[in-house]
Amino acid sequence: MITITVDGLVQKALADERLIDVINRTVSKVPQVCYHPQLGPIQTCDTCMVEVNGQLVRACATAVSAGINVNTKSADAIAAQREAFDRILSNHVLYCTVCDNSNGNCTVHNTTKLLAVEHQNIPYRPKPYEVDNTNPFYRYDPDQCILCGRCVEACQNLEVNETLSINWEDPHPRVLWDGGSTIGESSCVSCGHCVTVCPCNALMEKSMLGHAGFFTALPKPVLSGMIDVVKAIEPETGYGTIMRVSESEEAMRESRIRRTKTVCTYCGVGCSFDVWTKDRHILKVEPLDGPANGISTCVKGKFAWDHINSSERLTKPLIREGDKFREATWEEALSLVARRLTEIKAKHGPDSIGLIASSKCTNEESYLMQKLARAVVGTNNIDNCSRYCQSPATIGLFRTVGYGGDSGSISDIAQADLVVIVGSNTAESHPVLATRVKRAHKLHGQKLIVSDLRENEMARRADVFLHPRPGTDLIWLSAVNRYLIDNGLAKTGFIARWVNGFEEYRKSLEPFTLEFASERCGLPVDTLKKVAHMIAEAENVCMLWAMGVTQHSQGSDTSTAISNLLLITGNYMRPGTGAYPLRGHNNVQGASDNGSMPNMLPGYQSVDDREVRARFEAAWKVALPSTKGLDNHEMVDAIQQGKLKAMYLTGEEMSIVDSNANYVSDAFSKLEFFVVQDIFFSVTCGYADVVLPASPSLEKEGTFTSTERRIQRLYEVFEPLEGSRPDWRIIRDVANHLGADWRYQHPSEIMAEIASLTPMFAGVGYERLEGYKSLQWPVAADGSDQPLLYTKQFAFPDGKARLFPLHWLEAPEQPDAEFDLHLNNGRLLEHFHEGNLTYRTSGIREKTPDTFVEVSPELAAERGIQTGTWVQLTSRYGRVRVRAVVTDRVHGKELYMPMNSVESPINRLTSSHTDPVTHTPAYKEASVKMTVLPEIGESPLPRTNSRWGQPTPQHGVEVERKWKRADYRIPGPQFVQIQPRQAR
Ligand code: SF4
Ligand code: SF4
Ligand code: SF4
Ligand code: FES
Repeated sequence: MITITVDGLVQKALADERLIDVINRTVSKVPQVCYHPQLGPIQTCDTCMVEVNGQLVRACATAVSAGINVNTKSADAIAAQREAFDRILSNHVLYCTVCDNSNGNCTVHNTTKLLAVEHQNIPYRPKPYEVDNTNPFYRYDPDQCILCGRCVEACQNLEVNETLSINWEDPHPRVLWDGGSTIGESSCVSCGHCVTVCPCNALMEKSMLGHAGFFTALPKPVLSGMIDVVKAIEPETGYGTIMRVSESEEAMRESRIRRTKTVCTYCGVGCSFDVWTKDRHILKVEPLDGPANGISTCVKGKFAWDHINSSERLTKPLIREGDKFREATWEEALSLVARRLTEIKAKHGPDSIGLIASSKCTNEESYLMQKLARAVVGTNNIDNCSRYCQSPATIGLFRTVGYGGDSGSISDIAQADLVVIVGSNTAESHPVLATRVKRAHKLHGQKLIVSDLRENEMARRADVFLHPRPGTDLIWLSAVNRYLIDNGLAKTGFIARWVNGFEEYRKSLEPFTLEFASERCGLPVDTLKKVAHMIAEAENVCMLWAMGVTQHSQGSDTSTAISNLLLITGNYMRPGTGAYPLRGHNNVQGASDNGSMPNMLPGYQSVDDREVRARFEAAWKVALPSTKGLDNHEMVDAIQQGKLKAMYLTGEEMSIVDSNANYVSDAFSKLEFFVVQDIFFSVTCGYADVVLPASPSLEKEGTFTSTERRIQRLYEVFEPLEGSRPDWRIIRDVANHLGADWRYQHPSEIMAEIASLTPMFAGVGYERLEGYKSLQWPVAADGSDQPLLYTKQFAFPDGKARLFPLHWLEAPEQPDAEFDLHLNNGRLLEHFHEGNLTYRTSGIREKTPDTFVEVSPELAAERGIQTGTWVQLTSRYGRVRVRAVVTDRVHGKELYMPMNSVESPINRLTSSHTDPVTHTPAYKEASVKMTVLPEIGESPLPRTNSRWGQPTPQHGVEVERKWKRADYRIPGPQFVQIQPRQAR
């Protein structure tokens, strides 16, 4: 700590801290239009001029040093600030009363007030450009753009989509998309970073326009007339009067605009933000300072919320009558569910019933589902969809380090020297997390190695891109480990102190020579050596992986191989290191954490542990089943075998997202009784006997746990749509109709019960999670949590990690003469999974209307395929019809199909082969044949899809180019233009 003086007062500061941040902690108020703490100094606006030891400087770009004397109020500083702001106003009309951005947080409005601006000396100059309305979610108004460059900085250096720039050399600079495209046809991915950081109304969410203010929905001619009136009266009255009118109107807005914090319902990154609403209209999503995301979002979290008010929402329970459904009352539906489950249990026993919890639902809801299964139905047949993606990663970590979760935080990934990504399309599946890697790689010298079948965005950015043969990651990972050990590059000190099983593990590596790896993986030996040396030489390494690893028949073993590599290289126990299996659904981590697993009670406490069971039995006042139940894959088999007769499934579209979907759907049609709880009538609902209408995330309270083990609260943005109910209430009511006596009135009571029974969550409580507060498990009773795991020891009784010997096995599903192509699949940025939620947002559907199959240019040439050609893909299990996109993202005979389709779901083609340890289907091991159909359609990716855009990478806003303009000079005392009215 050092001390400095600000306006005569001594102030503590960190050495090298930004002066603006220090000033902002004092009572002094300095304008700062272009500065945003999460973007850093941009230096375009010049409004933050202050005197340091008598010299004018930009406070945002000045680092403090001991003893400096700062004067924010000297005549020179004030004159410079005012002149700078006058220049800004020459680019902006202050029509605040009729502006949808005038909600108390408009930087331009607030700076006008702060500087008590009454008159503008540099006249407003409109720019010779049209408003750009071509993006479905936001619009750009050049005439209001003050050229602060925040948007450019956010797009280039935070989101790192590199779409935006400013043409500083032009007589009329403006923000450009891809150097001059329309927004709609640019590479913009609609993440919304630029809109979020814009300090005025130049970039606005379309959902705000005409909705936020009392006078902003007026017809355009009336609005323009009012703006002209404002301009006309300003010379006479000054801005003060106009501002006061606008502030009265602004205060009225407060009474009807609600801002409610929530956590994103889509992927596992765990972005949190405020949702602005007026009645049931979503005005906008505003990320402020989320612990995982800061101000970042992707298109889904920022804009994909139309499902909430969709007219297709289920609002009445439905009961099957023959081939049709009829509407029913809640009482009738719940009674029927209870009666049928009771009958089936009486006839076939509790294990003839299976329950599936949703990983879209809250922790509290997962807890209630497993409690319903165990304590009320009396079975351990309970699971969630982490079986389909995450369980292998969890096993890999259980085997080696002890906890089944990310070993650190997203901030650790950002500070690693080297990030290795295996089998993850991170930029599309975990977009905000990917921005941290892209930023560190672009700005801070972080190195990146990517192993994937497909040349996705991260692969294209990588320093080394490995394209191994499908299903061979385990081999190259193990070969690198052997090479490191053989060449004295392993961290022997770390291993000796912290790791068990080295000798046995070393022997198990015998077959994994670089030559063997090269031959099996199709990777050059030199490349593998390069990878090994990069890992060995990096101070801190994080390894990220996802379904490209886990959804293989050796998913658990490959996950284990990753952790083995981290242990051999000593990359645990320090910030910037560790294992990061990237969780897919928003609460897939929490669904398992809270016990929706056939072998684990909440907190990964084994069902066959007598002491654990006794604790739960005492609390729940029941005898609990002690043998492991069926997982969801086994449940489907058990239905086919006639052993499982009834199922209660919440919020999962199993009929199309399960591997070998035809087999799964066929099983559902054989159930004696099937209850499906969802917010829409899904494909799976079509097999149900009773459909229960649930509420989506914005209509309930609870907590989600993100990929970095971060538990966060969501608040009720809207009351549940009439007729629907939050899942926790429905599960409670089902339990009570089955004879339980559950009295939960609020999810906080459920969380209190979880904490009381689960050591891992002992200190979790709603008061500790209030607002944007969060906790990363394990959480001790005193509330201390663990952002970084294993700081003192590994989670085994002796505190040491374990190396786990592995063998490689050929995948059972291989291409052959008939099924000659390998088919890979995954998520698309714009859609979540099958798209049941995201297709309801019209802007998303407009940009990404359908699925497709990616075909390599060489295969396309060989088979006469062009983008838009219809093809039929046939596997050993089913067929789909889909249009082709020819792209060099895929190579040779490898195809890729995004999973966002209800009509042509990829899973009609995938098999029932599984990872033997977890029963996770080998989704990524499909072989197909491709029949080229005679029709050629439009490209399934319209011209307005960002993938056709041409980004313009540069280092931020490049303010130096502005400073080189002939008409630019630093504002200073000799050029004082703005005078307060009273001073005249
Ligand atoms: S990608 Fe598009 S929405 Fe995201 S910051 Fe860049 S221009 Fe804005
Ligand atoms: S559009 Fe960009 S440059 Fe223009 S005011 Fe908004 S953030 Fe600043
Ligand atoms: S989908 Fe994921 S990355 Fe996108 S906003 Fe939601 S949590 Fe963040
Ligand atoms: S805030 Fe410092 S130059 Fe804009």
